Parts: sequence; structure tokens; C-alpha cells
Amino acid sequence: MATRLVFLTESLTLFCIPVSIDAFEDAGDKNGASSEEKVHVRVQQRNGRKCITTVAGLADDLDVKRICKAFKKNFSCNGAVQRDEEAGEVIQLSGDQRTNVKSFLVDQEICHGESVVLHGF
Ligand SMILES: *[C@@H]1O[C@H](CO)[C@@H](O)[C@H](O)[C@H]1NC(C)=O
Repeated sequence: MATRLVFLTESLTLFCIPVSIDAFEDAGDKNGASSEEKVHVRVQQRNGRKCITTVAGLADDLDVKRICKAFKKNFSCNGAVQRDEEAGEVIQLSGDQRTNVKSFLVDQEICHGESVVLHGF
């Protein structure tokens, strides 16, 4: 059993509430409301072979820097938190960490599996 870390900055607020599951719906178009509650994990290719994974949509009351730190340690990769005007705080990780990110978020009970949307490839 993995020890559960505390990633909340302050009081518990429920986030990542499973909304209607539509795996093929993309972020932010018409259904702004439901996509806001999703965590979007994307992979992007850089220079033809290197990948980076971005994690956007984590709730405001989560300590994103701390989650990033835990990702880096847990996946042994580089990572940083970037502030995006639209998406808020976005975690960037080196390599394709999509499945790692999803299982970590679910395992640590940060998100429900249905709330994590994997994109790319
Ligand atoms: C990585 O995270 C998983 C899921 O929470 C946990 O089971 C595992 O022990 C962690 N591994 C390391 C090296 O921290």
C-alpha cells in the first residue's frame, strides 16, 4: 500500500468530480463547464524524438508545485510548473509520462480515473 501524500494546500474541496464520460470530447470547446473539471494530460514531441508531458487542469486548491516534485521523484524525470494564462498552472515533465501520471493521480486519490483525460499520439 502506497502512503498517501498530502497535496492539498488548504481545506479539502472536492474537485475532479466525475462528469459525463465522453472520452473523445476534447478540451474547452463547447462544454467549458465539464472540461474544467478534467485533468488533461498531453504528450508533445520535441525535436523528433524527445517528448514532454503536460498536466493541466489540476484544481486550484492543490499544491501543484508539490505534485510536480512528487512526479519528478516518482518517475525519475525532469519537471517544472509553468503558468499559463488560460490553463493556470501546468506541470511539464520530460518523457511520455501519461500512464504514470494517471496512475499516480488515481493512486494518490488526487483524481478519479474518469477525470483524467489522456491526449496525444
Ligand atoms: C510512486 O507512486 C506510486 C503511486 O502512488 C507508489 O505506489 C510508488 O511507491 C511511488 N514510487 C516511488 C519511488 O516513490
